[in-house]
Amino acid sequence: MDGVLTDTVELHYQSFKKLAIEENVPFNREINERLRGLSREDSLALLFNDRILTQPELARLMKTKNKYFLELASSMTAKDLLPGVQNLLDYLTKKGFKIALASSSKNTKFIIERLEIGAYFDSISDGYSVRRAKPAPDLFLHAAANLGIQPAACIVVEDAEAGIEAARAAQMTVIGIGPERRVGNADFIFDSVAAIDLDKLLTEVNSK
Ligand code: G6P
Repeated sequence: MDGVLTDTVELHYQSFKKLAIEENVPFNREINERLRGLSREDSLALLFNDRILTQPELARLMKTKNKYFLELASSMTAKDLLPGVQNLLDYLTKKGFKIALASSSKNTKFIIERLEIGAYFDSISDGYSVRRAKPAPDLFLHAAANLGIQPAACIVVEDAEAGIEAARAAQMTVIGIGPERRVGNADFIFDSVAAIDLDKLLTEVNSK
């Protein structure tokens, strides 16, 4: 979801930055890139690298980070869908594909409501669905099981390195969205969702 359907990556960056300044830990866009696809808990562990966090401290930081994020995300609307997403969802629906959403975010349902695209999805797996977040394959396997589809028959669209690793571990075909240095391990790479040539890609997948 984040970075594929909508650009919440920037909102996560702004909210982590506010928290990092308050807590006096180093943070910049390069560190933010490393947080793509990770759960909030894993992101904070990475951010507070050399500080041992107690459970109540971690809970407080998670709550504060999310408060900042929701302040920014509450003004999102259907206009915040990234280019090409609506077309892709319409195309997949028309062709009879089953569509699942698999995001590490605990705000998935909230964001999908803001984007007004809930009706497209046959299944939604989020940060509450599994215990082990990406790069573990669990979230994608949860989605495939919900759809009743074999993992090998699934195609994942991912923008994050951790997500690509998770999809590969789940034995799924993966489309990477973004620069080669980030999504280079994907089976297919496109600059954006709008650039995905699905007909060509499906011909290639089916001929394997
Ligand atoms: C997604 C995003 C991350 C985000 C994480 C946790 O995987 O790619 O950038 O930090 O979800 O989101 P949450 O909304 O639960 O804080």
